[in-house]
Amino acid sequence: MKIQEKGVVISNQEVACNLHFMEIQVPKISAQIKPGNFVSLLPPASSGTFLRRPFSVAGVHDRALQLVIRDIGKATHAITSLRENETIEVLGPLGNSYPTFEPDKKLWLLGGGTGIASLLFLHEAHNNPKDRILWGGKCSCELPEPAALPSSCTLATDDGSCGECGNVVEVARRWLASDKPDYIAACGPKGLLKGVQQVASEYNIPAWISCEEFMACGVGACAGCAIPLAAGGYARVCADGPVFKAEEVVL
Ligand SMILES: Cc1cc2nc3c(=O)[nH]c(=O)nc-3n(C[C@H](O)[C@H](O)[C@H](O)COP(=O)(O)OP(=O)(O)OC[C@H]3O[C@@H](n4cnc5c(N)ncnc54)[C@H](O)[C@@H]3O)c2cc1C
Ligand code: FES
Repeated sequence: MKIQEKGVVISNQEVACNLHFMEIQVPKISAQIKPGNFVSLLPPASSGTFLRRPFSVAGVHDRALQLVIRDIGKATHAITSLRENETIEVLGPLGNSYPTFEPDKKLWLLGGGTGIASLLFLHEAHNNPKDRILWGGKCSCELPEPAALPSSCTLATDDGSCGECGNVVEVARRWLASDKPDYIAACGPKGLLKGVQQVASEYNIPAWISCEEFMACGVGACAGCAIPLAAGGYARVCADGPVFKAEEVVL
């Protein structure tokens, strides 16, 4: 059930260049949210924009949603400028969630940019020390210090300025030379998701991808977020997704 709730900003920390970790307390939504779900935030009026914006949830702590938000435009700038105790309207939980993976199975969680958010939540929920989580960015200024992340998280940068050198798919391919997961979950830019589709098919690894398509209504009413399905027809990312089996969608 979708809930509209006034959220209170509990914390807001800039952890890398224009990248914020935020905690917004919404007790009712927090009680229902699952890894893969997203919420829609109504930007403060000061932003001059009145459309709600979608954000994946990176975790729940003390009845607050944890969010990873990159300040890239009017709405995200206004949201990331909010201070402790200021309020913001939140709608959620929205969309579907990742499946429940068997506790003993090994997951690789492959994230690019803010696509890491839902994977951090899934990682915490699955709670298997054999899981590996990989967060890629273009350069070190896009990513937080490793101390701000779970110890099982590996960073990767295109220019090698921190963590492993290469994009997420290249690093995952290197890992596959000596290791193999039971499942993959991925979220990030389209190029990353396409690469994951290919790797999963080559190595016969069941994979799920979370798509961050542009959205208008965000609740299944306008088809503004439609993506083609391999079997024909279209799916609405906001209502039928954002999580799909990797081979289900055409990217
Ligand atoms: C399901 C879902 C989950 C998301 N989760 C997160 C998250 O956890 N953290 C986060 O920071 N962002 C997330 N986003 C993206 C976020 O919604 C947009 O960054 C935000 O709406 C931009 O609003 P703005 O007014 O600040 O920027 P705008 O002025 O609207 O856009 C600024 C620039 O960003 C580009 N842009 C905007 N939206 C997207 C998008 N969806 N994909 C690619 N490029 C885009 C625009 O083309 C433009 O170049 C998610 C999007 C979806 C659909
Ligand atoms: S954004 Fe309107 S249907 Fe998905």
